[in-house]
Amino acid sequence: MNSILSQLAHSALQDEKKAKWQAPSNIALIKYWGKLGPQIPANPSLSLTLSRSLSETTLICSPSERMEVSFEFEGENHPKFAQKIESFLVSLSTEWAFLKKIKFSIFSKNTFPHSAGIASSASGMAAFCLCLLDIIYQMNNLPKDELFYIRASHLSRLGSGSACRSLYGGLVEWGQSPVDQSYSDTHATPIKMSIHPEFSQLQDAILIVSSEEKPVSSREGHGRMGEHLFSSIRFSQAKSHFEQILKGLKTGDWTIVGPIIESEALSLHAMMMTSPEPYILLKPKTLELIQLIKHFREESRLPVYFTIDAGPNLHVIYPESVKAKVQTFLENEARPLVEAIIFDEEGHGPQVC
Ligand code: DP6
Repeated sequence: MNSILSQLAHSALQDEKKAKWQAPSNIALIKYWGKLGPQIPANPSLSLTLSRSLSETTLICSPSERMEVSFEFEGENHPKFAQKIESFLVSLSTEWAFLKKIKFSIFSKNTFPHSAGIASSASGMAAFCLCLLDIIYQMNNLPKDELFYIRASHLSRLGSGSACRSLYGGLVEWGQSPVDQSYSDTHATPIKMSIHPEFSQLQDAILIVSSEEKPVSSREGHGRMGEHLFSSIRFSQAKSHFEQILKGLKTGDWTIVGPIIESEALSLHAMMMTSPEPYILLKPKTLELIQLIKHFREESRLPVYFTIDAGPNLHVIYPESVKAKVQTFLENEARPLVEAIIFDEEGHGPQVC
């Protein structure tokens, strides 16, 4: 653990404490795929924080003889989530020994349908880390200032890399870059430069192709980048994409931003398909939808592009100015091909409940 968190060590919890936070999901435009060390990204990534895809979590901490974790997800006990959080807490307890004597009761739900198959690990981990840090701040009598969010981002990163970007609204960066010395590998930062109004309220229509659990987790996928023949080329590509996309975002140029977004998605999946143990997360319908979007873009000449995370679902990205036209098109043409569509957009970041 880094000193930014270890400063918060504390003696045993004396009485019951409670915190409740809502945190958003985020969609990466420049992908984090591959790690250099423990939760240290191999390249800078850039994401859009969403507004309607949220996790809402309550954490109750009470003094106990030993660490105990229970996780209730949408009203039902979820031993798998409890186990994931427990191993995270055990890893934190090497520096925060006081965690070993706490009973953690976690109650969480998502505002998007549980079966929707969109990544809830970022929003879920961010909401949990906000609650945990909130309680540690209560124990230390600290005000929740700017440093609180930096620490929450740092903590979330240790739980799940992409979660660290869910701590801020709008476009968010994570990972060192020569573009700005203040961008860090250990926590995310909201994009500092001014963004062209064209990109000020980006829309993300999430086309749910499949809500099945994926056969290879992201954690496993990152691991397979270690031995990957093309990893260093991929990391250079992402670094270069990151620098170029910032130029496009500044000047309002979709002809720079759009192709980079799509190339990032396809490169991510190409890495999976060419890894030492190859695998495919895309489904035939994902490819069908890609063709549909490309065709619509060519016909309509509207700036409508896709991105994909580590799964089969398509995120359609477009500016607010064409929202009505794109939504009508998706309702008519894409709806019959998918399980569900979630019309989301840029959001403001987490909030305390
Ligand atoms: C494809 O953050 O889920 O969504 O750090 O191992 O928990 P861990 O991985 P995770 O990886 C997300 C990968 C991605 C791209 C991205 O969000 O940047």
